[in-house]
Parts: sequence; C-alpha cells; structure tokens
Amino acid sequence: MKKSKIAIASDHAGREMKEELKSFLQSMGVEVVDMGVNDDKSVDYPDYGIPLAQRVSNGDVPRGVLVCGTGIGMSILANKFKGVRAALVSDVYTARMAKEHNDANILVIGGRIVGKGLAREMLKTWIEATFEGGRHQTRLDKITELEKKCHK
Ligand code: RB5
Repeated sequence: MKKSKIAIASDHAGREMKEELKSFLQSMGVEVVDMGVNDDKSVDYPDYGIPLAQRVSNGDVPRGVLVCGTGIGMSILANKFKGVRAALVSDVYTARMAKEHNDANILVIGGRIVGKGLAREMLKTWIEATFEGGRHQTRLDKITELEKKCHK
C-alpha cells in the first residue's frame, strides 16, 4: 500500500530527471503513472503539472512527483489544488520532514538544482517516511479549514 502508485510529470527542464526517477521508482516496485513530458521540446510546466496535481487532488492517485528546472513553478501550481500538499525539496532532511510533519503528497524536485543521486535518495526517504500525526495533524487540519474557505 505504502509504495502503491505514484504519478510523475515534468516539463522539458525536468524530463531527464523524471526519466531517472521513474526508473528508480519502478526498481523499487512502485507502479508509476508517467504523465509526460516525453521529449525535450520547450513546454509550459503548468500543462504537465496541473493534470498531475488534479489527479492527486481528486484521489485518483495517492501521491505524485513533479520536476521542473527549479521546482518552483511546479510547487506554486500544485499547492493551488485542494488537498494537495506539495513540498519542494533539495536535501534529504527536508524530504523526510515533508512526510513526517507535513504529510506531503507531492514531492517537487528541481531538475537543474540537484544531482540524480541526491534526487533518488530524497525520493526514497519521502516514500519510506511515515506521517507522525498528533500535533502535525492539528496543523494540517487548520490548512484544510483554510481550503474550505478558498475552494468554494
Ligand atoms: C523552464 O525554463 C523553467 O522556467 C521551468 O522549468 C521552471 O524552473 C519554472 O519554475
């Protein structure tokens, strides 16, 4: 269940990293839903990030990974969706905290920022970490309350 299914998407700047992380996830036995992009032609990251964030938001897939050049654009857009908690990470500690404290359901990586080895390690750490609940759930509940006001 924990490793069940992960959707992954990128723009052109993150495509190489997406392919790397897709293979890595598959080698871990994760079912990967590849939502593009599939060549190096310049594209607009929202065209790939929005459909993925939508699927996580509506519960179609439990988790996702988004990659663009810096990871900034993808994280901005993903966090507009109800129920999405997207975390842009560039170190292993933050990747672990993203799950343990924030229950992040989308991991965002800057394909031009981190190396492939670090990206693999961050992804593995996030997948294997467990949300701690308790006071962290109380905090997330406050964000959910905010969402109810924003997403009418
Ligand atoms: C594309 O050049 C780049 O702007 C994009 O990948 C991303 O970094 C945006 O946040």
